[in-house]
Amino acid sequence: MLSLRDFELAAARHLPHPLFAYVSGGVEDNRSLQENLSSFAEYEFSPRVLRDVSRRSMATTLFGVRHEAPFGLGPMGISALVAYDADRVLARVAAAAGIPMVLSGASLTRMEDVAAVAPGHCWFQAYLPGEIELIKSMASRAQNAGYETLVLTVDTAARANRENNIRAGFSTPLRPSLRLAWDGMTHPKWLLRTFAKTLYKTGVPRFENAGLDRGVPIISRRAARQFNRDSLSWEHVRVMRDAWPGNLVLKGVLHPEDARTAASLGVDAVIVSNHGGRQLDGAVAPLKVLSSVAAQSGSMKVLYDGGIRRGGDVIKALALGADFVLVARPVLYAAAVAGESGAAHCISLLKEEVKRNMASLGVCSIDEIGPECLHTKAQHSAYSHFTNPKETT
Ligand SMILES: Cc1cc2nc3c(=O)[nH]c(=O)nc-3n(C[C@H](O)[C@H](O)[C@H](O)COP(=O)(O)O)c2cc1C
Repeated sequence: MLSLRDFELAAARHLPHPLFAYVSGGVEDNRSLQENLSSFAEYEFSPRVLRDVSRRSMATTLFGVRHEAPFGLGPMGISALVAYDADRVLARVAAAAGIPMVLSGASLTRMEDVAAVAPGHCWFQAYLPGEIELIKSMASRAQNAGYETLVLTVDTAARANRENNIRAGFSTPLRPSLRLAWDGMTHPKWLLRTFAKTLYKTGVPRFENAGLDRGVPIISRRAARQFNRDSLSWEHVRVMRDAWPGNLVLKGVLHPEDARTAASLGVDAVIVSNHGGRQLDGAVAPLKVLSSVAAQSGSMKVLYDGGIRRGGDVIKALALGADFVLVARPVLYAAAVAGESGAAHCISLLKEEVKRNMASLGVCSIDEIGPECLHTKAQHSAYSHFTNPKETT
């Protein structure tokens, strides 16, 4: 495995088709998903040379905590069906690498059990309806479990139109069918090492962090998942700000005015994200709006996610105004194909790429990464001040 993409190719072979489609897919025509990846190609680097970069460091501080790299692991629901015990595996691997991991509100492992394996390294991401009592009680559950950073995902007012899931035979909960059984049997490594092992050790997994009680099981003929997030509003963010003493982060902000509102309500950070192209197809690629959102964020921190596949992508997002970046799909693919060591290898590949690229750009610290690292059109015209002597004579 030489790059993050290698894990995706391996996961496509390893996982039953419905599961791979669930992770890799976007929504409707996958326009945002593709744009997230291709938007990075619109920016090029402007390397500087001969700057003695022998003592460079990737370490950075966020919410007063030092992290060994400027990226963490983004939240992904149902991970524990994709890779064995994935929530705890990713939390442990992140802690060992000195970076944070965000546990999804649609995860299948109790938030208390995940926090216990990586104290201080886990953040909790909540999906919440606009119900004040539930917001308050989830905030105290997360606080009692030891979480210091709460991420509220705000880009899911409607259930996404994930046609790819329906076509591939994936649903939540999964409905038992002959097709699903066949997909499992034709992927025996996943069937034995992830699925059968999970059933044997813990029984049929359930959504454990959607509320105070256990949610529906992940496999069920009859159960249905509740979806009632369309009344969530800024008023609830205000309530949450009062109820939550730790760091409050809004995930899924793409408009500068929304960032300004968040800052005025005392939110600590926004994550500029279109949910990996999984919510509104055609939603702008977050990289394209990152600098405008950052410009309106005041003292809030700005995080970025969407399409991070290379160390160079991390650096481009930082250069455009992000303080920190989240990587999601690749690390889940890595955990699926090779468990804890796979996920650890994925993180170290990304770290190595960031550090190598910092050297080539002539920067020694994350704080030095700014717009001047990128070759923009404006910079191109600035070069015209350096007149070509051959032209002037
Ligand atoms: C399988 C999967 C499950 C996800 N589940 C959640 C979730 O529960 N909560 C959330 O806020 N975002 C969720 N996301 C979105 C990611 O946190 C992140 O925004 C997105 O994947 C970034 O795109 P990338 O993976 O292509 O880099 C999920 C993404 C994937 C791929």
